[in-house]
Amino acid sequence: MYRFLRPLLFRMDAERAHDISLRAATLVQNVAPSFIEPQYHYEDERLKQRLWGTVFPNPVGLAAGVDKNAKLVPFWEAVGFGFVEVGSVSAMAASGNPKPRAFRLPDDRALLNRMGLNNEGAASMAERLEAGGNDRTRPLGINLVKTHDPGVMGEAALEDFRESFRLLAPHASYVVLNVSCPNTSDGKTFEEPHALDELLSTIFSEQKAPGLEIPVLVKLSPPVSERVIFDTWTEDIISVAQAYGVHGFVVSNTASDRKGLDTPQSTLDALGDGGISGAPLADRATCLVRYLYRATDGEVPIIGVGGVRDAASAYEKIQAGASLVQLYTALVYEGPGLVKRIKEGLVKRLREDGHVSIEDAVGEKT
Ligand SMILES: Cc1cc2nc3c(=O)[nH]c(=O)nc-3n(C[C@H](O)[C@H](O)[C@H](O)COP(=O)(O)O)c2cc1C
Repeated sequence: MYRFLRPLLFRMDAERAHDISLRAATLVQNVAPSFIEPQYHYEDERLKQRLWGTVFPNPVGLAAGVDKNAKLVPFWEAVGFGFVEVGSVSAMAASGNPKPRAFRLPDDRALLNRMGLNNEGAASMAERLEAGGNDRTRPLGINLVKTHDPGVMGEAALEDFRESFRLLAPHASYVVLNVSCPNTSDGKTFEEPHALDELLSTIFSEQKAPGLEIPVLVKLSPPVSERVIFDTWTEDIISVAQAYGVHGFVVSNTASDRKGLDTPQSTLDALGDGGISGAPLADRATCLVRYLYRATDGEVPIIGVGGVRDAASAYEKIQAGASLVQLYTALVYEGPGLVKRIKEGLVKRLREDGHVSIEDAVGEKT
């Protein structure tokens, strides 16, 4: 069906097409939920695994940014995602950057966005999840970010993260700290090792409280290239994360540079700033997955994200060390039917490689 809808959607501004698709999904979710599941159903024991004490029925998840306010969790579960990550959400609601702020780059099967972390705020999401009860069938990740406001910096930024964590941890199977957001007026982010140390100290002191003892993951930016993975920055991030016992990494966020794109430079210049996602990110993200897997002796689960667009690219991330994968951009280009196709393709590959479980393939090509 998406094949017929796509040309219509692609005639619209990318964000408007996204909003209309989400509205259509809400309608289906509310009016005819039982209509969705049978079409997309595909499960196989080989895809199941237990991570952080929770069962993931399959390793294909929804990436942060698609459902920023957790309005469609049952819909994503029904189309077959093995887990859903909502957000990024911040303590205060934020309207984000002026529109237009999302663009397709079809020559690269990519997107460029400068959404500016628009979301309705942590309290509103907590209320929504509370009202929806705990009848979820899949693990739910909640991605937290600092409120997108240059006035919220330093100590206030830590309090901002702390508030979101307190409100939302009770509803999450795991929490992700989106640390690629600016934390100083000169643009330094929470990936700067000292800032990360302060953030993890704040969050892990909360995480010890009863009811809030859930896994905490850190989402990183991509490396500058496929070749330059190793740098002291990455090493420092890993050692700070390990000192606090971070439970996992999400690799990676969008790229702020424009390396390796086929889209003409003049088009890119006309579109302006923004992060690149989709196919051009795939190899860089996979290399960082592999690097982290090796650096942590495969003991810290990794969620691989960036350019996952078919079973082959998903399997590549898994073999490089990702226990789970996520997608965003490929969903825009391929529609929700892609989730089932990736799962079928993964099972085929596991069979061919003689694996009885997805766990056997994780990190086998590092
Ligand atoms: C329009 C758009 C909005 C996004 N918003 C968020 C966000 O709020 N938080 C976050 O951690 N990542 C966000 N991402 C990044 C994705 O979660 C993902 O890391 C990245 O797009 C790479 O995956 P992909 O190639 O499958 O798109 C966003 C990506 C896009 C394209």
